[in-house]
Amino acid sequence: MLNIAIDGPVGAGKSTIADEVSRRLGILHLDTGAMYRAVGLAVTDAGIDPQNEAAVAALCDDGGARVDVRYENGAQVTLVNGLDVTGRIRTQEAGTAASAVSRYPAVRHMLVARQRELAREQPMLVDGRDIGTVVLPDAPVKVYLTATPEARATRRLNQLREKGENPDFEAILAEVNARDHQDMTRAVDPLRQAADAVLVDSSNLSFEQTVQAILRLAEAVHV
Ligand code: DC
Repeated sequence: MLNIAIDGPVGAGKSTIADEVSRRLGILHLDTGAMYRAVGLAVTDAGIDPQNEAAVAALCDDGGARVDVRYENGAQVTLVNGLDVTGRIRTQEAGTAASAVSRYPAVRHMLVARQRELAREQPMLVDGRDIGTVVLPDAPVKVYLTATPEARATRRLNQLREKGENPDFEAILAEVNARDHQDMTRAVDPLRQAADAVLVDSSNLSFEQTVQAILRLAEAVHV
C-alpha cells in the first residue's frame, strides 16, 4: 500500500502540514495523536488518573476506551466508545493525558493494531511518533518533520496570541521540552527518526516550502 509516514515532535506542524499534503495528493490523513488523545479523554472521563498504568490498562482490556476513526468529507472524525470527541481532544489537558497514557503497552498495542488496519484499507498519510518505526515500517515514504524547540514554541506562542491570549514564552518552551523528553525517553516505541526516514527541518521553512518538500518526496515514489 502506498502510505506516507510522518513522525516528529510536538509543535512541528505535523497535523496541518499532513492535512495539506494529503489534500493535494487526494489521499486520507490519519492523525494518530488524535487516537491517543481520545484514550486520554476516556481515561480522565472515567475518573482514572492517567499515571495509573494498571487502571488504564484495565479500562482498555475491558473495552472502556474503544477508539475509532471515520471520515466526513475527507476530514477525520475521532470517536471513543461510539462518541464523537473530535473537538474535545484539542485541549492542553487532553494532550498531556495522551502523552501519559501513550507510554503504556496496553494502549499502544490496541491503537497500533487499529492504525495498521486503517492503513491497509486505503492509501493514507499517517502522522504520529512511531509510524515509520513501528506502525508502518514498510511505508514507501517516511518523513521525520522537526524544528528547533524555540521555533516550535514561537509558533505555539503566535497561535495563542491569535486567540487573544497573552502567553509566556519561557513557560511554553518548558512545556515543549517536557513533552519532547516524555515522548523520546519512554520505554515503549519512543519518538525517534527511522533509519530510512528523510529529515525535514521546518525551523526556517514556510508552510508552503515544507509542504513542497514532502510532496517532492511523495512524487519521487509516485504516491
Ligand atoms: O500529536 P499529538 O500532540 O496529538 O499527540 C498526543 C500524544 O500522543 C503525544 O504526546 C504522544 C502520543 N502519540 C504517540 O505516542 N504515538 C503516536 N503515533 C501519536 C501520538
